[in-house]
Amino acid sequence: MSYNTFGHMFRVTTFGESHGAAIGCVVDGCPPRIPLSAADIQRDLDRRRPGQSRFTTQRQEPDAVKILSGLFVDEASGQEVTTGTPIALVIENVDQRPKDYSAIKDLYRPGHAGYTYDVKYGLHDYRGGGRASARETAARVAAGAIARKIVSGMVVRGALVQMGEILIDRKRWDWEEVSRNPFFCPDAEAAMRFEEYLEGVRKKGSSVGAVIEVVAEHVPPGLGAPVYGKLDADLASALMGINAVKGVEIGAGFGAARLTGEENADEMRMGKDRKPVFLSNQAGGILGGISTGQPIVARFAVKPTSSILTPRRTVDRFGRETEVSTKGRHDPCVGIRAVPIGEAMVACVVADHYLRHRGQAGEPVAWPFPPRAK
Ligand SMILES: Cc1cc2nc3c(=O)[nH]c(=O)nc-3n(C[C@H](O)[C@H](O)[C@H](O)COP(=O)(O)O)c2cc1C
Repeated sequence: MSYNTFGHMFRVTTFGESHGAAIGCVVDGCPPRIPLSAADIQRDLDRRRPGQSRFTTQRQEPDAVKILSGLFVDEASGQEVTTGTPIALVIENVDQRPKDYSAIKDLYRPGHAGYTYDVKYGLHDYRGGGRASARETAARVAAGAIARKIVSGMVVRGALVQMGEILIDRKRWDWEEVSRNPFFCPDAEAAMRFEEYLEGVRKKGSSVGAVIEVVAEHVPPGLGAPVYGKLDADLASALMGINAVKGVEIGAGFGAARLTGEENADEMRMGKDRKPVFLSNQAGGILGGISTGQPIVARFAVKPTSSILTPRRTVDRFGRETEVSTKGRHDPCVGIRAVPIGEAMVACVVADHYLRHRGQAGEPVAWPFPPRAK
């Protein structure tokens, strides 16, 4: 039994842990002849990379990707393209510091996975959390960069929309802003508030949670399969599988419980191009587990980093009560670097469903259907 693989036709298997030699993945099922280079993957990895501001861990990992297989230079174009065979890629770990963790070698960090891994496997890789470390998510981001290329025209973007009690003002949402501040925040004013707030949190050696929104645009309608392959169910599973994620919403999400049927109805009209236009998007682009063609909107909540300086009560591996305070290098808000990870997981799930849909249903049906004669 092994659970290091996700996806059906676009299949990703990741390997590696925080303090091992390297992390990486094998992506199987990528169609052939798609232009792909290490630079395409590096671009996304650089957005997730640690040590880029004082608001993320100071672990210095260049996260340089090396593609080992699955590419070939196409003679006609001179470009590197996918061959349809497994794409294996590796990212070396270069800045491990196991000594940072020696003081907590036998202790469980409340909120971290040490206790459950130990109970399950009888081993405690205290060095940065081992496989439970979010180092592994670099491999997901790399896979996501490949996934983005499969669905032609698809754009997947993410943004941090809440940090602790501070919410962005959605009226000020500007996608351009996301790359201008260290928080992936689409609201310039909220980003300034985040900065001041997180500086205080960081100086105290504490941490805080966050909410991330991911929007996938230009996703074709018809992706997702009832009833056990629903697109929203698979997105929820993929996002929930990111470290520290404690909640996922699609569209209006939990807010839908407060709406009336009228408010929640995404009314329809015909657009000029003979495609339907939805007048709102409470559904988050998915109905009956199938994409509508509207933007797919998913949000996920990330808990505060469990590694904090403030002493917390815990027990050790030998059943003794004690206290733990975690020194070393940690993100005061892991939600920040979770933004590109969320984008990658959404891209992987949509790409997988795109290939699954093509496999089962082939060419799209000619919609709308001609009216029946009376
Ligand atoms: C980008 C990112 C970075 C993380 N860095 C840390 C960290 O430095 N220290 C820590 O205690 N947890 C960190 N985490 C969270 C842990 O990996 C996670 O909480 C832990 O494995 C327990 O799993 P769970 O929270 O999903 O139940 C990080 C999570 C993400 C998404």
